[in-house]
Amino acid sequence: MNWTPEQIKDQSGKTFLITGANTGLGYETALELAKKSATVILAGRNEEKLSEACARISALVPSASLDTAVIDLNSIAAIQSFAETFVQSGKPLDVLINNAGVMFPPPSKTADGFEAQFGVNFIGHYVLTALLFPVLNKSAHGRVVTLSSMAHRNGKIDFSNLKLEKPFDKFREYGQSKVADLIFSFELQRKIDASGSHVISTACHPGVSKTELLRTDKPEMIETVDYMDANQGAFSTLFAATEAVEKFAYVGPDGEGEVNGYPAPSFVAPYAKDEKTGSHLWAYTEKETEIVFDF
Ligand SMILES: NC(=O)c1ccc[n+]([C@@H]2O[C@H](COP(=O)([O-])OP(=O)(O)OC[C@H]3O[C@@H](n4cnc5c(N)ncnc54)[C@H](OP(=O)(O)O)[C@@H]3O)[C@@H](O)[C@H]2O)c1
Repeated sequence: MNWTPEQIKDQSGKTFLITGANTGLGYETALELAKKSATVILAGRNEEKLSEACARISALVPSASLDTAVIDLNSIAAIQSFAETFVQSGKPLDVLINNAGVMFPPPSKTADGFEAQFGVNFIGHYVLTALLFPVLNKSAHGRVVTLSSMAHRNGKIDFSNLKLEKPFDKFREYGQSKVADLIFSFELQRKIDASGSHVISTACHPGVSKTELLRTDKPEMIETVDYMDANQGAFSTLFAATEAVEKFAYVGPDGEGEVNGYPAPSFVAPYAKDEKTGSHLWAYTEKETEIVFDF
């Protein structure tokens, strides 16, 4: 039977934080979790957009338990500022969903000098996960879900081109950021296992879904191409976030070419599983961000 969010068990008592939750897949993920009585923290970089998203969810799910968090993944300092306040608040967190992303922006760098896609899609989520890990570790259900993409298959980490050192190639740089996300998810699970922590690190991808992702590159494609709708695009994330998944799981749609369909185990490029690459990327990121996980 095809899995749908209808099958999600009651999530009362669990708190999910979703980055990039004001629109697209993050919004649909928040909506479906709210329907299942989870407490959902919608994170994004714009307070107004977050309030609007909360209002839309509340109109559909009047009992929704929602909160917002302004986290600009473009800046390590901004992430640190959010995390410090959150950790000090003593609020619980059970599941962190690393969803936010940018695709094909003009060549640009984050506040810390990383190429924008690598910096937002990967570095920002590495930092956020590291800083929230102690809170996740306290939860009996601690889990991290990281969104990758089929584009990871073409991705390779070029350690001499993570800060826009080479002429910009939007496909190559997006692929690099998305393979980094998948490598991160697997390496995080290895480090968790070595530490004895019970937190689970999983990954997923949404096939090809109708969202605002191409807004800066080809916005006309959002309306003209027959993508999977964003709600179904969120199924993989929802499955990875709420079902009893295997360690190192990578969930994606089961249709032809993994473009659309229902959650199922998905193809992982061997490069993404390579442990040497995983530990190299981790060491690079620790050094460059000066943020180290406390397992
Ligand atoms: N759609 C697809 O077919 C597809 C395929 C493969 C993978 N994915 C992945 O799915 C994830 C969600 O993308 P989507 O398709 O839902 O795209 P989307 O509709 O463009 O949503 C992206 C979200 O990320 C947020 N975001 C962007 N930059 C940010 C920053 N610096 N700090 C914090 N938040 C930021 C956006 O906020 P603003 O609205 O404020 O910009 C928005 O909430 C991404 O990781 C993407 O790579 C999508």
